[in-house]
Amino acid sequence: MKKIKVKALSKEYPVYIGNKIFSSISNLIVEHSLTKNLFVVVDKNVLELHPGCVSAFNKNKFNKINILVFDSSEKNKNSKSVERIYNSLIKNNYGRDSVVIAIGGGITGDIVGFAASTFGRGVQFVQVPTTLLAAVDSSVGGKTGINFGATKNLIGSFYQPDFVLIDTSFLRTLPEEEIICGIGEIIKYAFLSDQKLFDDIKINFKKLFNLNSAVTAKTIETCVRFKAGVVEADETESGLRKILNLGHTFAHAFEVEQNYEIKHGQAVAVGLVCALFLSNQLGFINSRNLDKYLGLPFLFQGKINFESCNVENVFNIMLRDKKSREGKIKFVLLTEPGKLLIDVEATKEQVIRSIEDGVSYFI
Ligand SMILES: NC(=O)c1ccc[n+]([C@@H]2O[C@H](COP(=O)([O-])OP(=O)(O)OC[C@H]3O[C@@H](n4cnc5c(N)ncnc54)[C@H](O)[C@@H]3O)[C@@H](O)[C@H]2O)c1
Repeated sequence: MKKIKVKALSKEYPVYIGNKIFSSISNLIVEHSLTKNLFVVVDKNVLELHPGCVSAFNKNKFNKINILVFDSSEKNKNSKSVERIYNSLIKNNYGRDSVVIAIGGGITGDIVGFAASTFGRGVQFVQVPTTLLAAVDSSVGGKTGINFGATKNLIGSFYQPDFVLIDTSFLRTLPEEEIICGIGEIIKYAFLSDQKLFDDIKINFKKLFNLNSAVTAKTIETCVRFKAGVVEADETESGLRKILNLGHTFAHAFEVEQNYEIKHGQAVAVGLVCALFLSNQLGFINSRNLDKYLGLPFLFQGKINFESCNVENVFNIMLRDKKSREGKIKFVLLTEPGKLLIDVEATKEQVIRSIEDGVSYFI
């Protein structure tokens, strides 16, 4: 199994990547000297498809193990679900000497991470991502959170896990739309990294889509290494880490406007296209390069579940985004893959036009 170190300021921890490595979870918990009181929150679908993921824990090595099943959806990514976790922890006599383990996609990881960071002012935490999106992105870097009111991820914390275990064998049961969601975030990394990764992802798109094991493992490793580097430089998003939000200000607004009928990774793909159009409007990329860069999200056309949207509503939701300040939306834009601009402002007309261009690209 591969081991990638994330050297964040608040904590240094490894990300293990491999095929069929989940069976080593008990040994890893012991090796990392974590406590022997295990509380596992597992995504309902994952438990059904991979029942072995809860029986794999070696009971002889631990004092106690409790399992809580979570029904993952953006609508359940809320304070009620966090309360359910707290209540179950209290009912089963867990204290500060506990390790909370999240097995599931990005929603499970975000919500369980938030509960782990706040219960008893913070208990140990392990991430086992089971979606492509969570493997390449959300399980690493320590952002946790829940949706609140009509704003995505408004309440949350920065809380690094003790380790992350990415077992690619979980991915083989993913439905097609979840693979698309993962590729949405991978395309983001293609724009954030450099021309080489951009070209590699484009060439390997079909293999990635079919979860070719070598290409998938390599891509996960590349994205994790890239994200680790960014998090090491700026753990709490005061500067460089903002680049990871490329396309996300648009994406979060699409998710809220569509009442979460569009999935996060798919909204990211649309948001990236909006960001490309806005970068073009503001003169950061010329029309020839715009066409070239659109060639990657182009591979998604016909695969995004998006029928129509109210552009004015999307704009108003963006104004409420937690990154907006005094009525000004802050964008991450680019000049070329690997050359990003942060905190860019634009006029309402420019933003509206980029939303229209991005949406009509997929409809
Ligand atoms: N913390 C971060 O840095 C960060 C980064 C990116 C995204 N996110 C968050 O991640 C969330 C999206 O994550 P997601 O796309 O993984 O969603 P998700 O957790 O809802 O998982 C998507 C679906 O796949 C199912 N599933 C999970 N694993 C499976 C498997 N192995 N086989 C079959 N089905 C499986 C789930 O039950 C769910 O229905 C969003 O809320 C987003 O805000 C967080």
